[in-house]
Amino acid sequence: MNEDTREPVRLIDTCRVCDGNDWQEVVSFGPLPLANSFLEPADSYDDEPAYPLGVVSCRSCRLMSLTHVVDPEVLYRRYFYVTSDSRTMAEHMRHVAALCRDRFALPAGSFVVEMGSNTGQQLSAFQDIGMRTLGVDPARDLAAAAGERGVETLPDFFSGPTARRVLKEYGPARLILGRHVFAHIDNIAEIAVGVRELLEPAGVFAVEVPYALDMLEHNEFDTIYHEHLSYFAVDTLATLFGRHGLRVVDVERLAVHGGSILVFVGRDDGPWEPRPVVDRMREQERDFGLFEDATYAEFAGRVAGIGEKLPALVRSLVADGKRVAGYGAPAKGNTLLGVCGLGTDELEFSIDTTVLKHGRVLPGSHIPVRTPEYGKENPPDYYLLLAWNYAEEIIGKEREFLENGGRFIVPIPEPTIVSADDL
Ligand code: TYD
Ligand code: ZN
Repeated sequence: MNEDTREPVRLIDTCRVCDGNDWQEVVSFGPLPLANSFLEPADSYDDEPAYPLGVVSCRSCRLMSLTHVVDPEVLYRRYFYVTSDSRTMAEHMRHVAALCRDRFALPAGSFVVEMGSNTGQQLSAFQDIGMRTLGVDPARDLAAAAGERGVETLPDFFSGPTARRVLKEYGPARLILGRHVFAHIDNIAEIAVGVRELLEPAGVFAVEVPYALDMLEHNEFDTIYHEHLSYFAVDTLATLFGRHGLRVVDVERLAVHGGSILVFVGRDDGPWEPRPVVDRMREQERDFGLFEDATYAEFAGRVAGIGEKLPALVRSLVADGKRVAGYGAPAKGNTLLGVCGLGTDELEFSIDTTVLKHGRVLPGSHIPVRTPEYGKENPPDYYLLLAWNYAEEIIGKEREFLENGGRFIVPIPEPTIVSADDL
């Protein structure tokens, strides 16, 4: 189909995991702009596109899915998201590489393919431990940046045809990696089929996704934005892979992005037997209420509570003459601000370390993004910690701000104020 005539948004019909169509409505945030579409400052933002943002839960497999799927060509060809070069993330990537090697006996020189390889930082960590790598990423500018650091990257979406092309040109993969990309893909059944074909018999597919239970338990509603089509539990992933000749063989819980799971998947005819943690986690999920409507309704109730409490708190500070700014300009911050209706009346600016975002404004709220140095020279009274998933690292390095009387508002899991007294 011609790119220009294709519908930019599609309403979900059947479940992308189990083909079911009995959906429970969970939350609906109305139309919001794309969370990574940072804008050049302008006099008017009247033509900023916005798309419906809502989540439903499949009553059969308990996949949580967005109600509306935005065309990936619209989302990813001109993509600003650069994997954060934070200390936390660099350590995490080394950890992931070592974990994959040690748990699944990866010999030196193994062929590792990563879908959504971004600027190639994760594959670099695999090269450091002696692996051969290939990245696949449709964001052309990022793929070029990866090439510069020595990570060969196909500038494409990982798909069934891409998997077959890699198999033909490079041979089978010992490890296929998908970190925080699987939840972005609509046709995951096709990906599963492609992965099955590309994996050698003892190969492993390592999928890292935000953990649906962490999102539900810790009220992480701001991780809902148009890029995140799916919110997965282990049980739901087991259903998916079981339908495509694969099986979940191991799971590791991780702290990144508000709580994630690294799920290891083997071929169902392969040598890797499921380890006990897999069934244990599926049982815990059942006990948690994964399969009960009430769990989702209660989550929605808590989200609505934050949506009232947080703006009331920020507005009362501003009314008292306090200066408030954002800390970080993550995608999730744009959902948070959009749902709470916070904008330039409340936040003067938001600081972020990502050079690409400097001088632009946040989508939706149009709050200007400034450098960390700007924040040092113009410290507000309160920083709303939009990048709350890095709370520990950020609060640790902002001692001076706190000791000078500055405070953080940490929005998630519950709006909380952090001052020097809490150090
Ligand atoms: P990220 O966690 O990748 O979130 P999302 O997936 O929601 O976009 O984004 C974190 C943002 O916070 C990123 O833009 C970099 C920024 N950041 C800072 O500005 N300072 C810091 O010290 C850290 C750790 C992150
Ligand atoms: Zn389903």
